[in-house]
Amino acid sequence: MKLIIDDAHIDLIKRVYEYYPIDGVTTNPSILAKSDRNPYDVLKEIRAFIGDEAELHVQAVSKDANGMVGEAERIVAELGKNTYVKIPSVPEGFKAMRILKEKGFLLTATAVYTPMQAFVAAKCGASYAAPYINRIDNMGYNGIQVAKNIHDIFKNNGLHTQVLAASFKNSQQLLELCEYGIGASTVAPDVIEGLVKNEAITAAIDDFVKDFEGLTGEGKNMSNC
Ligand code: G3P
Repeated sequence: MKLIIDDAHIDLIKRVYEYYPIDGVTTNPSILAKSDRNPYDVLKEIRAFIGDEAELHVQAVSKDANGMVGEAERIVAELGKNTYVKIPSVPEGFKAMRILKEKGFLLTATAVYTPMQAFVAAKCGASYAAPYINRIDNMGYNGIQVAKNIHDIFKNNGLHTQVLAASFKNSQQLLELCEYGIGASTVAPDVIEGLVKNEAITAAIDDFVKDFEGLTGEGKNMSNC
């Protein structure tokens, strides 16, 4: 499962990249709005930091297919290869996806709440379909189960589209999808940093250091004892 950062704050992205094996960055219009800067300035900064090989996902906001196609052209012209254009999984979006697929664009079908949206988007040529785990939970359905169903639908129908699960609130949700072997998850920096936060782990490491320093002296380690 690829692990992607769902944020546009460059300092947070840099911090998470420093410690974790990250495959790219996703954004959406609401995430970009938080920066209060020109979207392309923010996105170019992210692209420069993550490099050309990493995935960058950027959403079109037009409600009609022609508008989405125009946005996709500008997005990729500005941000280069390995930029996935996020297209909402609604009828105008499906129309745009088919046009864009024909032109060779990389596509992420977004705003996925149901398996049928994902199935249709996959047939339109999306590389990823992004179910919103937490938002589905908040509607009274099971977001994890929806993501698993979508993964199975893709597999059972020979579709090459991958699940890109989004909208997480905790580690457990991510773990369940990791165990299931879905393609990718995009996660906010605070949830990524919470993945291995555990007092028992910290205590175990502190005990090792204490025992070693008891043997060799304070500040000693395997390079200077
Ligand atoms: O882009 C979709 C996803 O990032 C939504 O996450 O946390 O706003 O539900 P959230």
